[in-house]
Amino acid sequence: MKRLSAIAHMPPSPIRRIYEKAILMEDVIFFSLGEPDFDTPSQVVEAAVTSLRRGDTHYTPNAGLPELRAAIADNLRAWDGICYDPAGEIAVTSGGMEGLVLALLALVDPGDEVILPDPSYTNYRDQVRICRGVPVYVPVREADDFQFDPSALERAITEKTRVILLNTPANPTGGVASRERLEAIARVAVKHDLWVLFDEVYKYLFYSDAPFFNIAASPGMRERTLVIDSCSKTYAMTGWRVGWVAGPASVVGCIPKIQENLCSCVPAFVQQGALCALRTAKADVARMNAAYRARRDVIVQGINAIPGLSARTPEGAFYLFVNIRETGLSSEDFAMRLLEEERVALSPGSAFGPSGEGYVRIAYPSDESILREGIRRIAAFMEKLRSEDRQ
Ligand SMILES: Cc1ncc(COP(=O)(O)O)c(C=O)c1O
Repeated sequence: MKRLSAIAHMPPSPIRRIYEKAILMEDVIFFSLGEPDFDTPSQVVEAAVTSLRRGDTHYTPNAGLPELRAAIADNLRAWDGICYDPAGEIAVTSGGMEGLVLALLALVDPGDEVILPDPSYTNYRDQVRICRGVPVYVPVREADDFQFDPSALERAITEKTRVILLNTPANPTGGVASRERLEAIARVAVKHDLWVLFDEVYKYLFYSDAPFFNIAASPGMRERTLVIDSCSKTYAMTGWRVGWVAGPASVVGCIPKIQENLCSCVPAFVQQGALCALRTAKADVARMNAAYRARRDVIVQGINAIPGLSARTPEGAFYLFVNIRETGLSSEDFAMRLLEEERVALSPGSAFGPSGEGYVRIAYPSDESILREGIRRIAAFMEKLRSEDRQ
C-alpha cells in the first residue's frame, strides 16, 4: 500500500460524528451548528445577483477588490479603532477559515509551535497541523470566566513558539477577553517577540457595555498582530465564504502570493455582496444581535433551571458552554445519548480541546420556540439520568 500523509490521517471531529448521525434522524433539534439561522439581508443578495448579471464572472486581484478592501479598512477604523492601508495591509479570503490558514502559512514553519486557548474553535488545532505547525493548548477556565490566563500562556512559551492565537468573543465558551487580560498578553507577546492571530469573527456579537478591544491597539502590537474576520457570523453569510486578514504589509503582502495557489481569489460577485453588507447592513446586524441576546437569556435561564447542569452567562458569540460534570458522563457520551434518546444534537466539549471535557456546547441561534423545546428535552434527559442513578 502506498503511504498517505499524516494530514490525510487526521481523525474526523466528534462534532461531525454527531451531526452526521443527527441528519439521518427525524425531528432533531439542532444546537450543534455555529451559524446564524437568519437569511442574509436581502439587499446583499440583490447586490451579488446584480453583480453576476453585470458580468462579474472573472478573476479579481488575489488580495480582493480594492473597493472591498477600502470598506474593510473603514470597518476596522470605526469598530476596532485601528487604521490599515487597503493597498497592502488587507487581503480578502475565503471566509475566516482560509484567512486563518493563509496567516498560519505565512508565519509558521514545520515544527513551530502555535499557542491555542483550550477549549477553542475545533478547526484551529487541525489548521495548525495542516500548516505543519504544532498546536499547544493553554487552558481557559470556567472559574476564571473563560478568560485567557497571561501567566499560564507565558509558561507555555518555548524556543519554538511563533504564534499566539486568540479569539474573542470566543467559540465555544462565549467568553469575552477583558482589555486588561489582552494588554497583559500583549506584553508577553512583545517580550517574547511573538505573532498574534486575533480572531474577531464574533466581534459585533457581544452583550456587555464595555467597548470592544482589539489587541492590535495595545502598544507594540499593531506590527505583530494579524486580525482575522469575516462576513459569516456578523451578516448571516456563512455560505458566501468571504473574510479577510488585516495586519502589517510584511505578512499581509505575502498572502496574495499564497492565495494565487489556493483559490486565486474570492469570487467577484461574492465580494460585491460583502461590500454591500459592510456598507449597508448596520440595521440588520442590530436586529439580529438583539434576537441573539434575547435567546441567550432564554437558554441561560432554561439550562440553569435544570438540576445537574450549570452554565455561566456568556458575554458574547452565540454559544452556551454547559457544565455537565455532575452527570458523571463524558461529554461525548452525554451528546450521543442526548441525541439518541431525546433527539437533541449538541457538541461535546472535548471536541474543543482537553479542557472542554465535562462540558457540552449549545449553539443557540434558533427560534425561541425551538430553544424552549430543546430545553424541555434536555430536562427530560437529565430526569432520566437521575432516575437511572436512583435504581
Ligand atoms: C472562532 C471562529 N473563527 C473562525 C470561524 C470561521 O468562520 P468562517 O470561515 O465562516 O468565516 C469560525 C466558524 O465557526 C469560528 O467559530
